[in-house]
Amino acid sequence: MVDRIPVIIDTDMGVDDAYSVMLALSSPQLKVLGITTSYGNVSADGATVNAIKILELLEKRVRVAKGASGPLFGKIKKYSNSRGAFIHGKDGLGNMGHSLSDPVHVEVESDAVDYMAALIRKEETKVTIVSLGPLTNIASLIISYPELRRRIDGIAMMGGSAYSGNTLPAGESNIVADPEAAQIVLQSGLRIVMCGLEATQKAYFIKDDLEMFRLIGGSVGRFYYDMTQDYISAQEKLSGERRAVIHDSVPTAWLMNPSVLKAKACHVEVDLNGQYTRACTVTDEICAGVKPNAMVAFDLNRDMFVKMHIDAFKQYR
Ligand code: RIB
Ligand code: CA
Repeated sequence: MVDRIPVIIDTDMGVDDAYSVMLALSSPQLKVLGITTSYGNVSADGATVNAIKILELLEKRVRVAKGASGPLFGKIKKYSNSRGAFIHGKDGLGNMGHSLSDPVHVEVESDAVDYMAALIRKEETKVTIVSLGPLTNIASLIISYPELRRRIDGIAMMGGSAYSGNTLPAGESNIVADPEAAQIVLQSGLRIVMCGLEATQKAYFIKDDLEMFRLIGGSVGRFYYDMTQDYISAQEKLSGERRAVIHDSVPTAWLMNPSVLKAKACHVEVDLNGQYTRACTVTDEICAGVKPNAMVAFDLNRDMFVKMHIDAFKQYR
């Protein structure tokens, strides 16, 4: 049997994060060492409670550590907050978090960055970080524990885009939240797979997929169905299409089976000074005179992506 890939999931625990966590925890290919949280879709406190509630729903004993409450520099942007609440609900779980029981089992560590460092140190093989929110915790890890870089196998991240944004005209939400942190991560020299909007917009579920999850997934499937109703409606208002785009499951799906994505080696820099393009992940596909620093995903096999989730939900029937 092939060894499972040890991963730490760093998340701002909204609706699509909850799918990604469920997928990872159900995967025979992955070993989830811990979950770290940050602000983004909700506050860091909210994300931590959500992570714990989802773990209890899934009946998985994984430790959670609370991380950054805001970006490395400056404050959380108002438009980021209102976008988070509009799409993910006020509680980050599609306004359905109240239907999950209050947490009892899961233990919370005090500091996400120290906890990541401890997990990485303890693991015999190199660890992969799955990044589903702003990159603040991961940038802090790279700055505070430079000696651990060689123990990190890479970062599979949902964030950025080559061609357009979703929160600002040229900025994707997780990068807009903390552009400086994203730039530190992209310049770190670590192996990076950037699952940006070109691929993640194709990672959607339609009504029939959600019905299927509800039918096959027992109480877990029912909760995920309920959690996704306001989410799909909010996205319909934005795009005109009734699709639940599950951005954050993309890096997890890639770790489980890389053939789910088509990716290309590119050089990516975050624009930190642009008057109109701050937080744009400027993606050089040609790399004339510069070395690639990330594999950038441009396409996704949706059938395979949906099937992976069906297989995951089957475990809860
Ligand atoms: O742009 C999509 C990203 O923003 C996802 O990670 C979603 O959860 C939100 O944080
Ligand atoms: Ca997220």
